[in-house]
Amino acid sequence: MRRKIVVGNWKMFKTPSEALRDFNEFVEISGALWDRVDLGIAAPAVSLPGMAALRTNGVAVHSQNSHWEKEGAFTGELSVGMLKDLNVRGSVIGHSERRQYFAETNATAGKRVGALLRAGLESIFCIGETLAERERGDLKKVLRAQLVEGFEAAGLHNASDVIGADANRPLLSIAYEPVWAIGTGKAATPVEAQEAHAFVREVLGEIFGADCASRLRILYGGSVNPANATSFMSCPDVDGALVGGASLKPVAFVELCQKAQ
Ligand code: PGA
Repeated sequence: MRRKIVVGNWKMFKTPSEALRDFNEFVEISGALWDRVDLGIAAPAVSLPGMAALRTNGVAVHSQNSHWEKEGAFTGELSVGMLKDLNVRGSVIGHSERRQYFAETNATAGKRVGALLRAGLESIFCIGETLAERERGDLKKVLRAQLVEGFEAAGLHNASDVIGADANRPLLSIAYEPVWAIGTGKAATPVEAQEAHAFVREVLGEIFGADCASRLRILYGGSVNPANATSFMSCPDVDGALVGGASLKPVAFVELCQKAQ
């Protein structure tokens, strides 16, 4: 039985003081929910030091990017060592906004995921098709390519590489986020999400073996809100959610997270 995981993606919202205030509020009102559901917030880089310093081990702090090299002349990037030093748990990688506006590819995203996992940090690897790709009937082709090319570039081939030390909390998670559902208020239907998730798990099984695939968490992302969260969480292959807009207000986000219990 996979433990559910809900992560808020704060994108480029909130100043560091606002982020710290809202993170504190979220931690306080979510109480002991982290005992039943893995919770996290992926925050802008400048907000990470303040949030991670609270050492709220129940609610993880994630970055929204992380480079594959240990260090070097890579202006604007963050290293895994920097994140570890701050007590950041992991990173959301390959988000469609990174792919669309900042030239992220399956290969660069994969390299980022590989470096994180090798350092024992978690990674939520985002994949998903555009509306044009879905309408062309290319959903499976696109998802398969994102996974296969990503893990090839990551140099990740074995179950042990992606699970890590705690089989109940694998280092790798996948977020299936149809691009047309992100920030549009037009979520996929639970049936569409389940179909895509089952296929993602099938491909993960081909790469890492069926046992490993049955342990990896696959999050749905794209217009999840407190009203529709339960319908996703009850799909057999949906193991949680990556939430943008509905994660920005602590009270509403806690309400959403409670649906994952
Ligand atoms: P949304 O964003 O919940 O605002 O659709 C999801 C995401 O981008 O991860």
